[in-house]
Amino acid sequence: MAHVSDLIATDIGAYLKQHETKGLLRFITCGSVDDGKSTLIGRLLYDSKMIFEDQLAALEADSKKMGTQGQNIDFALLVDGLAAEREQGITIDVAYRFFSTDKRKFIVADTPGHEQYTRNMITGASTADLAVILIDARRGVLTQTKRHSYLVSLIGIKNVVLAINKMDLVNYSKDVFDRILADYAAFASALAIEHIVPIPMSALLGDNITEASGNMPWYRGPTLMHHLETIEVAQGSNTAPFRLPVQWVNRPNLDFRGFSGLVAAGTVHPGDLVKIMPSARTSRVARVLIDSDLPYATAGQSVTVTLEDEIDCSRGDVICGAESPAEVSDQFEVTLIWMSDNPLLPGRTYLLKLGTKTVPASVTALKYKVNVNTLEHVPGKQLDLNEIAVCNVSVDQPVAFDSYEQNRDTGGFILIDRITNETVGAGLIHFALRRAQNIHWQAVDVTPVSRAEMKGQQACVLWFTGLSGAGKSTIANLVEKRLFAMGRHTTMLDGDNVRHGLNRDLGFTDTDRVENIRRVAEVSKLMTDAGLIVLVSFISPFRSERRMARELVPSGKFLEVHVDAPLAVVEKRDPKGLYKKARRGEIKHFTGIDSPYEAPENPELHIDTTKFTAEQAAEAIVERLESLGFLSRAL
Ligand code: ADX
Repeated sequence: MAHVSDLIATDIGAYLKQHETKGLLRFITCGSVDDGKSTLIGRLLYDSKMIFEDQLAALEADSKKMGTQGQNIDFALLVDGLAAEREQGITIDVAYRFFSTDKRKFIVADTPGHEQYTRNMITGASTADLAVILIDARRGVLTQTKRHSYLVSLIGIKNVVLAINKMDLVNYSKDVFDRILADYAAFASALAIEHIVPIPMSALLGDNITEASGNMPWYRGPTLMHHLETIEVAQGSNTAPFRLPVQWVNRPNLDFRGFSGLVAAGTVHPGDLVKIMPSARTSRVARVLIDSDLPYATAGQSVTVTLEDEIDCSRGDVICGAESPAEVSDQFEVTLIWMSDNPLLPGRTYLLKLGTKTVPASVTALKYKVNVNTLEHVPGKQLDLNEIAVCNVSVDQPVAFDSYEQNRDTGGFILIDRITNETVGAGLIHFALRRAQNIHWQAVDVTPVSRAEMKGQQACVLWFTGLSGAGKSTIANLVEKRLFAMGRHTTMLDGDNVRHGLNRDLGFTDTDRVENIRRVAEVSKLMTDAGLIVLVSFISPFRSERRMARELVPSGKFLEVHVDAPLAVVEKRDPKGLYKKARRGEIKHFTGIDSPYEAPENPELHIDTTKFTAEQAAEAIVERLESLGFLSRAL
């Protein structure tokens, strides 16, 4: 490695010690290659001398061969290889680079600047203390500058360096610099960025990077490196109320029960009074341990605490300072950033991971989308990749949280797709919806089980799914007739019929189908509570919503019936002439034609309608109900 510190050669132990105790600054650079971003990062790496010797030799050779800087070093070559690859979309991860000086260690998240990489920028920004926003002095404040600044403020980065680069190309003009600042200030006043430090520079020539520039005597502020080395950033807010999201319960033997996790905020001492949220039980901290007992622990440390009382506390709970505990709710207003190629569909169930807690969740209302370039609010029904919206989110049990503004760790969450396990969104909690706090479960004395018992049966859902024309309604109708003849109590929810009433406001976009099935699933749950055998006949094309419907009723009481027929067959049957219309383009989003059908993977019953008649199918279904005991009173 190129020389970093004489200590490396003379006393490696002392060097490592010094390195260990240096503070860390995480920052993100925002801008495009055209703004000189790669040159700037290359220059910082070079000036901090954290470049390997062989890289340096190659850089000098490459610069002469293919650089854009004549005989001089082209710093962009240090990072552009990666950048070019990323900007073509070959890899879309964030590149993290590490460098250090005598004073500090740095991790810089380098993300591509284009709008289609918003999700990468959000990922890179989520852990950053500071953002360097690059502006090309010749071009001034651009749409992308505004977008980058908005995203930076959204994610809660309080410190911005406005790197006004390429000053050499505008004759190091103070007027140009001042004009850009005025432009930027006009627009940034609407954003919650606390500290903005503008620095005129030339990354290429080294003006105001590590050395104060002789070309801009009118500038009296710090160089970029000096600013990065000295800026004070609140490291994990030690003075904030204490928060320990419990990652695991550490129970090596019967005498020890500790709660381990990363302290998200504040400080904890033995003897402190704490509240376990969401249960709000109170106890006192007995011990604070890392390897051995400590007098206290603070934000950023991974610790184990033990409590004086044997109280319930498990993974996902948050141990809080008793004086200002986290809030608890199951509905929030949030800002959501969508990171998946598959759109967010309101009403669909995702997993929400907040701190160490993971719970099923759905977006109950998409209030508005934010145009990331103009900050305008725009209406929308779904959220596509890189889009941002303010939404209401509902989780299926109360969770402990803070607003994102108060605490990034206990107020920021991700959404995970339940089928693919992919992270699909990132969210920032604004506040709990008050309506959630004022609605409670009302106890009733007649239970679902007693209602079913009175009918001499057990309630269940028979969920018929399949393409239009597969025979769902025909078979469901025959099953119901048989059950009726046997004196059983049933009800029928049929797609075409429900769409005449309850769901007459819904069409056939993905979003509307999700809502269609969500409502029907809720109704089928209510009907099973009434003690009925519920027959549901909907195309219900998505696995995700069928799974949601299944999970609404008690385990074992949901029977998925796949009424299967190949597209070619149903198209030939075409009982309502709809396939012909769809093929002619007269119906849009027709299932099987230009809208997907996700076949069940493990249905309780699979009916191949090319082999069995509807009568045979109905008979098989009733037999199955009988053998599972649904047609007799529970024991
Ligand atoms: S679902 O996909 O949302 O579950 P649902 O079962 O309610 O659909 O409604 C399907 C019925 O609506 C079909 O049997 C057909 O008669 C009619 N229909 C009208 N337009 C469409 C369409 N674009 N796709 C599928 N079915 C449609």
